[in-house]
Amino acid sequence: MGRKKNQTAHPKTKTDASLLAGAATYEVGMPRKRFYRQRAHANPLSIHHLEYPPSPEQMDWSTHFPTYFAPPPSEGEGSPSLKGKKVEFADVGCGFGGLSISLAPLFPDTLMLGLEIRVQVTQYVSDKIRALRLNPGSVDPDNADDVAAAAADAAGQPVAKRQKVEASEDSASGKLAPVRGIKPELMPPEGYAYGNVSVLRANAMKFLPNFFEKGQLSKIFFLFPDPHFKQRKHKARIISPTLLAEYAYVLRPGGLLYTITDVPDLHQWMTGHIGAFPLFHRLTEDEIDNLGLEGGEGVEGQSGSELQRVRERAVMEAVKRRTEEGKKVERNQGGKEWSVWRRLPDPE
Ligand SMILES: C[S@@+](CC[C@H](N)C(=O)[O-])C[C@H]1O[C@@H](n2cnc3c(N)ncnc32)[C@H](O)[C@@H]1O
Repeated sequence: MGRKKNQTAHPKTKTDASLLAGAATYEVGMPRKRFYRQRAHANPLSIHHLEYPPSPEQMDWSTHFPTYFAPPPSEGEGSPSLKGKKVEFADVGCGFGGLSISLAPLFPDTLMLGLEIRVQVTQYVSDKIRALRLNPGSVDPDNADDVAAAAADAAGQPVAKRQKVEASEDSASGKLAPVRGIKPELMPPEGYAYGNVSVLRANAMKFLPNFFEKGQLSKIFFLFPDPHFKQRKHKARIISPTLLAEYAYVLRPGGLLYTITDVPDLHQWMTGHIGAFPLFHRLTEDEIDNLGLEGGEGVEGQSGSELQRVRERAVMEAVKRRTEEGKKVERNQGGKEWSVWRRLPDPE
């Protein structure tokens, strides 16, 4: 895709720095969606003014993950990593951030990033993460069961009313809600405060390799992407043969690509294109169920274990049920179709 005149490479993503820097000074509570009104759709092909780093090494991650990165030593340089970590999970078109925010406590040592093109929606996610960092026990007033839900999923439990109450009681103490019956190993460590999750305003159809190195990501999610129904709009779909080459580039061999949608035609489109791409292998439902046992990518601690399998199952639950679109489809009793793909090694 050609670079347009008014698309400039900037050493730092100032827009996003200001997004993250803004809210806390005056807003410490959980944000409400109704104050972040935004058009239902943004046209990814007509947004050209976003800033991006010239290369992943020059990206300033310190505003996104201040506990993991120091500020860049000087203009044009990247942020030094403090703990040797890089972003590993990317939630492309994250919307209101339900996936990353629910996965973050389950993978407390994995950095995850939502990419979202709409300004207000990005700001909402940014404000929500900020509120959670200030008070990890905060309960989303729009989704009171969020905090407990991902962990409950991991334990294979329904989110009972009781857990919602526990979450709100705990929010006063600023701690993550303990969930009954949850394996203690799955709860994040004491003092966990959402430092491993952030959101970036970006057009994921452009310049992804400017943010992520080759093979940096272990998981990439495309959850309920905009369907762009009309044929002449299909070029705006987030899965396409050209873009798959970029996704394969940033995803490491062994890494996983997830899709889910409630639009059958879009499911066919996505699985058709990904299936035709030589670097992706589709997992069967059994293989999805056993993810983690063989020591899959993106799981903290690389060796296979029952615990990792439980974590991977929690990921699938979050894919199906923890995003705002997923919840909406569930409320409307709509059908969902998903697919999971393993990135194959590069050919010799
Ligand atoms: C239907 S919503 C789904 C949001 C979320 N994944 C969920 O499941 O709730 C699709 C989101 O993708 C965002 N989006 C569309 N094209 C994008 C692009 N090129 N880059 C980043 N975000 C994009 C839209 O703004 C919208 O928030």
